[in-house]
Amino acid sequence: MNDYAFSTKIIHTGLQKPDAHGALTLPVYRNVAFEFADSEAIAAAFRGETGEHTYSRISNPNVTHFEQKIRAASGAESVVALSSGMAAITNTFFAIAWAGSNIVASPHLFGNTFSFFKNTLAAFGVETRFVDTDDPAQIAAAVDENTCAFFAEMITNPHLEVADLPAISNLLKTKGVPMIVDTTLVPWCAFDAKKAGVDIEVVSTTKYISGGATSTGGVIVDYGTFDWTKNKRLAAMAQPDGISRFTHKLRSEIVRNLGAVMTPDTAAMQTLGLETLQVRYERMSATAAELARHFSTHPKVVRAGYPGLDTSPYKAISDELFTGNPGAMFTIDLASKADCFRFMDALTVFRRATNLFDNKSLVIHPESTIYCTFTPEMKQTAGIEETLIRFSVGLEAVEDLKNDIENALKAI
Ligand SMILES: Cc1ncc(COP(=O)(O)O)c(C=O)c1O
Repeated sequence: MNDYAFSTKIIHTGLQKPDAHGALTLPVYRNVAFEFADSEAIAAAFRGETGEHTYSRISNPNVTHFEQKIRAASGAESVVALSSGMAAITNTFFAIAWAGSNIVASPHLFGNTFSFFKNTLAAFGVETRFVDTDDPAQIAAAVDENTCAFFAEMITNPHLEVADLPAISNLLKTKGVPMIVDTTLVPWCAFDAKKAGVDIEVVSTTKYISGGATSTGGVIVDYGTFDWTKNKRLAAMAQPDGISRFTHKLRSEIVRNLGAVMTPDTAAMQTLGLETLQVRYERMSATAAELARHFSTHPKVVRAGYPGLDTSPYKAISDELFTGNPGAMFTIDLASKADCFRFMDALTVFRRATNLFDNKSLVIHPESTIYCTFTPEMKQTAGIEETLIRFSVGLEAVEDLKNDIENALKAI
């Protein structure tokens, strides 16, 4: 399978075991416990020597199959699937941070990620040092011997800034710090994370992967590229075979203790989502590019945001990282918050809802929703403006979406 393209690999990754009835799609193993012939067999399975499933909070055939497909298509060393994108982020940091450690990150983050760093982890003595990721000198100055990771969103949501990951990776390598990136906004068919220097990817599979907002999910993708003896918490661990200290810690302790596992039903739905991912992604991304381009010159639009626009300061790095295909999210700024509300209320095809990359096109005003619990100071740090509207483009005909926006702009 190694020589095949992404879409072929993701569809044809084999089952862990042949199905008893020859089912071409893995049936859903909606069970908790697995039975063993004798005591030695169950003991060996618990020691992780046989790869057999024991209990569905620890592993399950559907979840493993989902993980194996992503592993085959992304070139990763290991993949761990969880119940949501936030579970992927929180489990990652519970595995590598320690009281007294720090994380160097962009403050331009999805709201719950920002809150996790600023509120949740801070209560356990983990500091987050916010830096401008466009400025390598700030990153270099913030890193010290207690830095457990650098973290960024590959394309920030909703600001649409693109971090120069290869350059940041080169800097982090000289400091012995892993690069952990939330790559939710561009999937593997358009972005080679390993080539860009990403050590660990966290992804909300709720978005593109789920195949049309079917379920929440998340994955942690470990490329096996970081030397975890450089992490004070993991350095003393024995090195297991064929798996990094990080993934070993995740699987043998963190994931089973926190219990935020992906269910077999979700894994089955998201496996199907993976199989149609590339065609959906390319269609949605092409429509978003067309809409962003079209409305960037509209007289009532103050500014349009999309990394593929010639006016974006991130166009060159976006072209380099995403083969000119930077995804299905774009933004516009209108003159005021009142105009934003009037405009959104006049849309009929775009649905007012919070999610990304559903098959249906969605629209939201981030400042009054996702960031509504933030103080004005936090909004300023997180770069959230009240004039910004975020679109997630679905699979409808581009002309219908264009007319919908055009008509709604007449309402202001
Ligand atoms: C960039 C990004 N990361 C993480 C998340 C969290 O994902 P989930 O809702 O699956 O927990 C989101 C959710 O919108 C997101 O946009």
